[in-house]
Amino acid sequence: MRVLSGIQPTGNLHLGNYLGAIRNWVRMQDEMDADSQCFFFLADMHSITVHEGREQRIRNVRDMAAALVAAGIDPDRSVLFNQARVPAHAELCWLLNGTARIGWLNRMTQFKDKAGKDREGASVGLFVYPVLQAADILIYNATHVPVGEDQKQHLELCRDIATKFNTDFGVELFTLPAPIIPRESARIMSLRDGTAKMSKSDPSDMSRINLTDDDDAIMTKVKKAKTDPEPLPETAEGLAGRPEAGNLVGILATLTGRTTDEVCAEFAGKGFGAFKPALGEVLVETLRPIRERFMELRTEDAALDAILDKGAAKAAAAAEPTLRAAYDAMGLMR
Ligand code: TYM
Repeated sequence: MRVLSGIQPTGNLHLGNYLGAIRNWVRMQDEMDADSQCFFFLADMHSITVHEGREQRIRNVRDMAAALVAAGIDPDRSVLFNQARVPAHAELCWLLNGTARIGWLNRMTQFKDKAGKDREGASVGLFVYPVLQAADILIYNATHVPVGEDQKQHLELCRDIATKFNTDFGVELFTLPAPIIPRESARIMSLRDGTAKMSKSDPSDMSRINLTDDDDAIMTKVKKAKTDPEPLPETAEGLAGRPEAGNLVGILATLTGRTTDEVCAEFAGKGFGAFKPALGEVLVETLRPIRERFMELRTEDAALDAILDKGAAKAAAAAEPTLRAAYDAMGLMR
């Protein structure tokens, strides 16, 4: 089993990233046996699709490394690195650009969402972004990719690229990866709008809970979260058509390891005035230790760079045979 996943180091880790992906990364790392390996990386080469100054980009990579370690990624057991330190990702991406089809990329909903109305003005990088993502996965022959629901389409594209490359060149080089998507928290929604996903790019900070938020900020955001005037239903079925209520119940269920039915049973008939403080309390207790570790770690730049250097050396060694075989399959002499 080879587990691999990535996160863009833009802005801060938020609750959606944590519950949708990072918690699963940590669980898979902790349950790993001797034959398995975990690769987790900061997708800084992907983040060039958002303009950022040099100093800020350097800070973002270190901060996200600190956040992942604070959340439980152990750089001695998992390979933790940033993409820019492992050029094999960009090299394989270029080779796969010969395989990926424009029609496939045109169907990517994330490109459509991020490009918005001005498609002509979007960067080429934003368009080919999913090909780099496919390279990230295929270069390690990853078997399992823990991600949130929004990455499912990119994973399907990755499988299509792998299949076409293997067929076109008559090789069995690339392994088809399986997405690992959590059942309850695959899509954590904005606290201001239950139909939009929680995201770093939402202009309203009240829409998300950041790893850097202190206890008071978390409580305030939960108390101000949009809800509806109805009391909580007896079962999860009663949450249908109530996106904000469903989101908050789902978050509490995930954090406490219960089903949404069980959470509904506890709060049935009560209003959000009773529910929100309970949710806020659990969030505060869950995030406080991670935040405290993060605040300490983020000041240790040299230690963070050393972790990323060590991870990159291991990743580069693991990537090399696949990259060499891809060049060879295509008849490109290195
Ligand atoms: P990114 O940086 O947007 O998000 C990192 C992870 O967090 C998950 N996530 C969510 N899950 C549930 N609810 C939400 N509101 C929410 N918001 C984010 C994402 O699904 C993701 O798992 N393209 C990727 C990074 C990437 C990657 C890869 C992932 C690059 N190469 C290879 C896997 C394999 C991205 O932008 O994630």
